[in-house]
Amino acid sequence: MYRMSDDIEKILLSEEEIDKIVEKVATEIDRDYDNSGKELLLLSILKGSIVFMGDLMKKIKRPAEIDFMRVSSYSGTETRGKVDIILDLHRDRLENTDIIIVEDIIDSGNTLAYLTDYLGLKGAHSVKCAAMLDKPSRRKVNFNADYVGEEIPDYFVVGYGLDYEEKYRNLPYIGILKPEVYTK
Ligand code: IMP
Ligand code: MG
Repeated sequence: MYRMSDDIEKILLSEEEIDKIVEKVATEIDRDYDNSGKELLLLSILKGSIVFMGDLMKKIKRPAEIDFMRVSSYSGTETRGKVDIILDLHRDRLENTDIIIVEDIIDSGNTLAYLTDYLGLKGAHSVKCAAMLDKPSRRKVNFNADYVGEEIPDYFVVGYGLDYEEKYRNLPYIGILKPEVYTK
């Protein structure tokens, strides 16, 4: 039987390591929003962040609402630079809402820089970002997330929600894809 793991060169973060990282991020969020007096909205960016979102929301102890947006900036392993909103956030009033955008990985920074501005213009009280992974060496726009699980070198990684052409999202760990998978 062919297994997705056959295409993985190396496991970068195991399930146990991921669990500790998500716990750390949840603790930071609980600490920072302890006395905010606002609604907290965890806004998951589909589809890559759903596994991180599911784990993170369970570890956050303060009340939070959840919602989803879907954007697209990628094809294959390269970003296009332009961000399209495919599924928008529909809420009447955001003045009383602190948003945390939950994202799988920051690469060029285009997606999160764009969404942070966009949600601010929609009137959110505040907008912060939590990313499971960050590849700072790939940045094309000046952007820093407020919460980062783990910084990684410039590898193309899959699993734990992250895909290559819609595959590998259901791997429970984060792994480096064998280059021959996307060069063949
Ligand atoms: P950015 O707008 O360039 O920061 O791109 C962020 C998006 O690109 C993420 O939400 C992912 O969907 C995708 N992406 C960036 N790097 C990787 C990777 O190593 N593996 C899988 N998807 C990635
Ligand atoms: Mg993707």
